Order: sequence, then structure tokens, then C-alpha cells
Amino acid sequence: MRLFLASLTILLFASCTKPQNDSPSTTPNQLDTAMNTTEKALVVVFSATGNTRGVAQHLASAIGADFFELKPAQPYTTADLDWTDKKSRSSVEMNDPSCRPAIVEMPANLDSYSIVYVGFPIWWYREPSIIDTFVESNAEALDGKTIVPFATSGGSGMGTSSENLQALAPKAKVVEGRRFRVGVTAEELADWAKQF
Ligand SMILES: Cc1cc2nc3c(=O)[nH]c(=O)nc-3n(C[C@H](O)[C@H](O)[C@H](O)COP(=O)(O)O)c2cc1C
Repeated sequence: MRLFLASLTILLFASCTKPQNDSPSTTPNQLDTAMNTTEKALVVVFSATGNTRGVAQHLASAIGADFFELKPAQPYTTADLDWTDKKSRSSVEMNDPSCRPAIVEMPANLDSYSIVYVGFPIWWYREPSIIDTFVESNAEALDGKTIVPFATSGGSGMGTSSENLQALAPKAKVVEGRRFRVGVTAEELADWAKQF
């Protein structure tokens, strides 16, 4: 984004300082093209039971972004996801802020994206610990990028997700993000994503 704004400033300055009888060096269409080629987006998602995966797939196709699913090295079983059991894996993980569950594979070339949408289910009013693994271990590659969290949930909002992720990737710009219902349409997602 910063690179784009710097280039845009140079382009505008260059056209402003040209003699008025010269034809402009950059047309609005060329500027649009420059924006589309520099604003490359990636949708990354962790989904334990498929709800957020579906929303993430809709989002990626609605905005023409690349898609990557984060898979836990140890898949979550139904028992692991039992939030009524204080000893279940998810309960234990979410009770430990330093917990970083391992991920099978990270997306390649994170550097080439300017916006990274990060999707997850809300667990205990925030992002699951495995999302912390992703953001923290890629903090350097996420430097200067916009991170847009999004989620599905049983009804809760984003809670502290955004501020948690910002603390893990201090040089990225983490926006507030949004919780979506499972049936959100591709059009709604595309409309929402326009602001980034
Ligand atoms: C361990 C665990 C904790 C959860 N905590 C919350 C919560 O705090 N608030 C809420 O509204 N839903 C909560 N849920 C429900 C999930 O956010 C919801 O079912 C979500 O859509 C699942 O997404 P997924 O299918 O992509 O995994 C929780 C689910 C699990 C398994």
C-alpha cells in the first residue's frame, strides 16, 4: 500500500508539473490498472467444522484473491472442540495465551500480498490459538501489510481478536474486521471488502 501511494504521489506530481498543453502522462484507466496490479490479496482461513471455510471461499472468489487453508498438525476431534469440557483440548489451549498449536504448512510468498484476510471461528470470544501461531510466526513477512480479520461464530462479535493480532504483528496494520453469519452472500462480502 505504501509503495502504491508513493508511486501514485510521484505520478500525480509528475502530471501536475507538466506544461498544461501536454497530454497527461497517466490516464485514470492506467491508474486503475496500477492499483489492481499492486493490491494483491490473500484469504487465509482456519476452520474446524467448515463454517468459516465456506465464507472464506466465497470471499476469495468474490474479490479475486488467492486462498489458503491453515491445517492443524494435529486435527481437532469433536471431543477436542467440546467447550463444555474444561479439560478438552480447545479449552486448555484457549486458557493459555502462550499456546501456539502447530500448523502443517504456511502460505508461500506472503511478501507478494498487500492485504491478508484472516478468517477463523470465534473461540471463547476471540481468535483460536492456531491463528496466533500463523500471525506470530509470519510477523516479519506481514510487516507493512493490512491484515483484515473475519470470523463466524454462534453469535459473538470479533471480541479482542483484532487487538490480539496487532500485538503479535506490531508492524502490520490490523483492522477491526467483522463477524459474518454462515449464509453471507458473495455480493455482501465483496461490498464489505471494497473499503480495504
Ligand atoms: C471451542 C469453541 C469455542 C467457541 N466459542 C464461541 C464463542 O465464544 N462465541 C460464539 O458465538 N461462538 C463460539 N463458538 C462457536 C463457533 O464460533 C461457531 O460454531 C463457528 O461458526 C465455527 O466455525 P468453523 O466451522 O469454521 O470452525 C465456539 C466453538 C468452539 C468449538
